[in-house]
Order: sequence, then structure tokens, then C-alpha cells
Amino acid sequence: MDSAMDWHRARALLEWQVELGATDAVGDTPVNRYEVAATLKTEVAKPGVAAGPVRGPTTPRVDAVAEARSSAESANSLEALRTAMDAFPHCELKRGARQLVFSDGMPGARLMIVGEAPGREEDLQGKPFVGRAGQLLDRMFAAIGLSRGAAQVVDAVYIANVLPWRPPRNRDPEAEEIAMMLPFLERHIALAQPEILVAVGNISCQALLGRRGITRLRGGWAEAFGKPVMPMFHPAYLLRKPAAKREAWADLLEVNARLKGRT
Ligand code: URA
Repeated sequence: MDSAMDWHRARALLEWQVELGATDAVGDTPVNRYEVAATLKTEVAKPGVAAGPVRGPTTPRVDAVAEARSSAESANSLEALRTAMDAFPHCELKRGARQLVFSDGMPGARLMIVGEAPGREEDLQGKPFVGRAGQLLDRMFAAIGLSRGAAQVVDAVYIANVLPWRPPRNRDPEAEEIAMMLPFLERHIALAQPEILVAVGNISCQALLGRRGITRLRGGWAEAFGKPVMPMFHPAYLLRKPAAKREAWADLLEVNARLKGRT
């Protein structure tokens, strides 16, 4: 910091910039994060190195998936799970995100929607699916009488993501990040106790079903963690390809029929 600028002046300047709408801090010298990421990947790919942040030679290796499993299993309520996830140190995505995005809607709802990862709006607001894709998601489920703000459990949905932190530049989460956060998702589902899961998009299908290829998977019931899963197109895809809304509507009707006991 410029020596002529004390802490209070620096803070006032920062607050002024935030008021003007600045949302991201940019350094004086550009950083090529793709190169940084490539270096990290080479390090992690070395045999015998467990998933997790790259550490110095003297730091003990960590099995991040095992730590995630033990942390998730010891959470006995959704609030405890949120706290455990917030304290989990091994996922690199946490460093770049503003906050943990845990869930929205009503725990105990019959239907739980599992999305991919927060985007910019979700990272700012701390809730899943609050951007444009989220508004479309809300309209889709409203069409079958369900909403995240419903007062009654029968009309409610519960929403969470595979990853609770926004990936940089909204890139696809890596397999290692998904594997590391999967025990938390499994526990999240067990604690929220939905009857049916809806997996929106490929990342969610990969996490829940171990398969990608949403165009082939959508519309057919599958199973994950002992629950029926309906894979559906992601609403962000539907915004780009409105013609696919016809299939999404068919899938919603199928979900509705199952909830009403007609299939
Ligand atoms: N897309 C997702 O998959 N999840 C969100 O929370 C927002 C956008």
C-alpha cells in the first residue's frame, strides 16, 4: 500500500469503489490463472498424491474425500452440515468464492432439486439458483404447483448444488472437486429427506448417477442414494436453447405424476 495512505483512507477508498459497483479486486500485474491451474494439476496428478490442495513437502498428505466423509457423517442436522461444509478446508473453490451457498427452499419437501454450482448471483446472495437460470427454474416448477417459498410442505421444493462454492469464471467443476464434495451432498440428501431428486444438468448427473449425457439421460428415472432421480436439462441450457423446453415440460409432467402417485 502507498505509504501516504493509512488504513482508514484505504478502507474509505475501497468502500467508495464498492458503492460505485466494483465487485472484484484486480491486481496491478495480470495473473495467468490457467497456467497456475495447469501447474496444480501436474502436481496433483503425481502418483500417490491424494485429492486436495497442493501442500509443501513437509505437510502431511490429506485424503480429502475421507475427511469429507467423516465430517459429513458427523453432522446430525442441516445446520451442522452447513457448518461442517463451511469449515471444510480442502476444496480449492472455497478460496475464490465469496461465501458458501448451501440451500434454499423447505427442508423436508418431497422434491429436492440438485444443481451444479453457484454462479455470480448465487455467490453474491448466498442462495442457489437466484440468477436468470434460477428464475426460469422457479417458473418451471411453479407450472406444476411447486415453489421454494411455499408455506406448505406439499407445495414446496428444496434446492442445493453439487458444489457449494462458485467455480472461477463459472468453469465446469473438476472430477476431483466433485468427488471431494460428494459425501456432503449424500449427507445433505439424507438429512433433507426428499422422496424424489431432480438432477439438473450434466454435472449433477455425473455426481448423482456417475454418468453424463443429459440428452440421453433426461426423462428416464434413475436412482441415487436409494432415491428416484429424474435427470432434466439445466435451466441455463434452456435459456440458450428454448426449443428444448418441450422436453423439459414432458419431464416435469413425469415428476408431477410420480408425486401424485400416478406412475
Ligand atoms: N446453476 C446451478 O447449477 N446452480 C445454481 O445455484 C445456479 C446456477
